[in-house]
Amino acid sequence: MRKRQLGWTDLHLTTIGLGTWALGGGEWEWGWGPQDDRESIVTIRRALDLGINWIDTAAVYGLGRSEEVIGKALRLIDERPIIATKCSLVWGEDRVVINSLKKKSVKEEVEASLKRLGVEIIDLYQIHWPNPEEEIEEGWGAIADLVKEGKIRYAGVSNFKIEQLKRIQPIHRVASLQPPYSMLRRGIEDETLAYCAEHDIGVIVYSPMQKGILTDKFSREWALGLPESDHRARDSRFQEPMLSVNVEFVEGLREMAKEKGKTIAQLAIAWTLRRPEVTAAIVGARKPYQIEETVQAGEWELTEEEIERIAELLDKRPDVIE
Ligand SMILES: NC(=O)c1ccc[n+]([C@@H]2O[C@H](COP(=O)([O-])OP(=O)(O)OC[C@H]3O[C@@H](n4cnc5c(N)ncnc54)[C@H](OP(=O)(O)O)[C@@H]3O)[C@@H](O)[C@H]2O)c1
Repeated sequence: MRKRQLGWTDLHLTTIGLGTWALGGGEWEWGWGPQDDRESIVTIRRALDLGINWIDTAAVYGLGRSEEVIGKALRLIDERPIIATKCSLVWGEDRVVINSLKKKSVKEEVEASLKRLGVEIIDLYQIHWPNPEEEIEEGWGAIADLVKEGKIRYAGVSNFKIEQLKRIQPIHRVASLQPPYSMLRRGIEDETLAYCAEHDIGVIVYSPMQKGILTDKFSREWALGLPESDHRARDSRFQEPMLSVNVEFVEGLREMAKEKGKTIAQLAIAWTLRRPEVTAAIVGARKPYQIEETVQAGEWELTEEEIERIAELLDKRPDVIE
């Protein structure tokens, strides 16, 4: 599989990384409906067998469940992949999630993640959200200490704006940014990608299939049939008026993907990778067949003509949000 270097670090990531939010299941506020841990483990192992060399997770996904399941899968394999996880979203006995970047909280979080994952060191540790905003310097300082202590290899952030990156850079060098990026969320194209390239910050983009919208199975019936324990049932992109706009857009992609002998998911992921500033796409999968299909996007380089056709479809799409 193709690899790209993560910014200034010595990590070489396959252009497809495995995203494991959905492996956290449905029993928490931002769940993805029921998920079988055995199927999750098979999915992780399949992804690694296919050549993917890194996994993205977060402590909060399923309130520790995604990290635990990755830990179980890792115990079954010989060669450990690169592990990226995140901090700043914490919960207590009541399972209510709050934001904290207090030094003590970050240090407790890393210990808990190391334990759940069953590893000695985390390769990429990221601040999940820049909240509470007044604590970002304190949290980043704590993470800089963790690098010195050898608990984490590199430190990155997610969902940070350029101004926030500028605030933390003097404290410790930022290895990577994890922003949303898909045909339906193009905000980083304006300034963020150029900023990251200029500062040699790696960019690993999330939700490249816009949580399942940019796939062959997407339809009105499927979106409206999502269970209540799946947070997508509350996502405006899965509801009217966005739903009809998205259904129509996906129909345009369907025609194009079919013509090329590919799937919509492959088209959507390959589209994010057309940008040289993007190191890799974090591709969510909860079943083995999903990653078997999507991993192939890593080898597809879109032609100018293909990129232009997508631009035309995007131009035709009413600008409802973002
Ligand atoms: N830093 C952050 O704030 C943040 C936010 C979001 C995501 N992320 C990371 O990025 C990863 C990827 O993003 P994401 O999971 O939100 O969205 P995504 O990768 O765009 O979509 C993943 C979902 O699409 C469906 N899917 C996957 N492959 C498919 C296929 N071949 N055919 C049909 N459906 C398919 C699966 O759900 P169903 O089968 O249920 O449809 C899967 O869970 C996450 O897992 C997480 O690691 C980070």
